[in-house]
Amino acid sequence: MNNRKNRVCPVEISDSLDSKLRRWIQNPRKILSPYIKKGMTVLDLGCGPGFFTIDIAKMVGKSGRVIASDLQEGMLQKLRDKIRGTELEEYIILHKSEEDKIAVLGNVDFILLFYMVHEVPSQEAFFNELITILKPNGQVFMIEPPFHVSKKDFENTIKIANTAGFKVTGKPKSLFDKSVIFEKDQNGGISD
Ligand SMILES: C[S@@+](CC[C@H](N)C(=O)[O-])C[C@H]1O[C@@H](n2cnc3c(N)ncnc32)[C@H](O)[C@@H]1O
Repeated sequence: MNNRKNRVCPVEISDSLDSKLRRWIQNPRKILSPYIKKGMTVLDLGCGPGFFTIDIAKMVGKSGRVIASDLQEGMLQKLRDKIRGTELEEYIILHKSEEDKIAVLGNVDFILLFYMVHEVPSQEAFFNELITILKPNGQVFMIEPPFHVSKKDFENTIKIANTAGFKVTGKPKSLFDKSVIFEKDQNGGISD
């Protein structure tokens, strides 16, 4: 059981999550283009002010969908304000999750967990629910920050995900962050 070491990122500092500097360092298209294709349904879980959401919406196009989900209504409001009056409103679905319940109905192709898992109080319950949302051949991309999250905590999170039925199928290169790709373990085994 992971103890929660960090509180949820406050809405008041959310502008720092959507800066030009961040876009230069963590370009959403560069990071996500190997995984996201036109027509996909993508869940951006813990979307914050939507730094990744808007690029994902453009990548999936009109035939796709993005479910942008966050615990904090203030974060969703920031994203709502950004897309108001644009065509992106048609295919970005804003969704309010609870601290211990994602409550998104299943069948998504790709789930992005960017800098959010360390804020989740029960990672066991979280991954047990997450696996019910993903399509059989879907993928989950989990990225955790370099300093907030130790190597040991990150490895523990991977073990929890393994126990829930995910296996690691990739370790995208990242300068400082910790990142993995998960898929459903069709054999139901535990992997590292
Ligand atoms: C550090 S921010 C990252 C936001 C965004 N993913 C990004 O990279 O710009 C973490 C976000 O996760 C959200 N969050 C934390 N715990 C959550 C949970 N259990 N369910 C949904 N969202 C959660 C927070 O409200 C916050 O907006």
